[in-house]
Amino acid sequence: MERLQFDSNSRVIVMTGAGASAESGVPTFRDANGLWEGNKVEDVASPYGFMEDPQKVWNFYSQRRANVMMCDPNTGHLALAELERQLGDRFLLVTQNVDDLHERAGSKRVAKVHGNLFRNKCSQHTTCPYVADDHGLYFDTVPKCPVCGADARPEIVWFGERLQLSVTDMFYSFCARAQMDAQKLYYVAVGTSGAVYPVASFVYHANTMGAESHLVNLEQGEHANDFHSFHKGKAGEILPRLFFGS
Ligand code: OAD
Repeated sequence: MERLQFDSNSRVIVMTGAGASAESGVPTFRDANGLWEGNKVEDVASPYGFMEDPQKVWNFYSQRRANVMMCDPNTGHLALAELERQLGDRFLLVTQNVDDLHERAGSKRVAKVHGNLFRNKCSQHTTCPYVADDHGLYFDTVPKCPVCGADARPEIVWFGERLQLSVTDMFYSFCARAQMDAQKLYYVAVGTSGAVYPVASFVYHANTMGAESHLVNLEQGEHANDFHSFHKGKAGEILPRLFFGS
């Protein structure tokens, strides 16, 4: 595999999915029967599911918090933090992952498009502004919003919900800036099945903006055809070689 030769005119976006955290021990999402750790997706990852059974949803996310707290960043996360140190503001990390492994590896600027596992917000968030960091585990009780008393919920973007515009804007304006500054744009997606939109469509936008696009993934699904190059393998092994040659 050839190392990507970034120079002072390069602008690089890396977008990570669940596969980037797999080697750290965080399970990916899509298994053959479409269940998430034995739960139906719509029961634990939709506003409707939360309305029906908030305790079930908190059990699921408390278990995920507990799992992630026992995991450590892997060599893929570390390579991305190093690339940010080298490229500075010519680098953008976008992640679909809600864990904190990029941050713990040293990445400073992380656009978390699907939210943050370690933050809560108010279930009445359209009218109540409450958002706070939280590492609590809630297996027996549903936490309450300290501002309005409604149920608090994880700050995760669930199915049927919009992505935060301020976060997706970081991606679009980063691409636009490459054109304004006549820089060479790279788009590298890592460990994602490309099943969830709109993030799966970021590669189309990047290609339209003239990016050279790469996918690093364990398996070559249909999504791989959207990229100029496909690198088959584990993120923790491929990323250090792709960025630094070792
Ligand atoms: P998926 O579980 O759909 O896909 C993970 C991909 O990573 C698969 O294609 C695997 O082959 C690949 N993979 C597994 N281990 C890998 C490794 N060590 N190195 C490289 N690739 C590996 O996960 P996402 O595409 O991230 O949203 O799923 C997108 C969204 O679906 C998630 O963010 C989640 C879910 O709905 C929310 O929770 C809001």
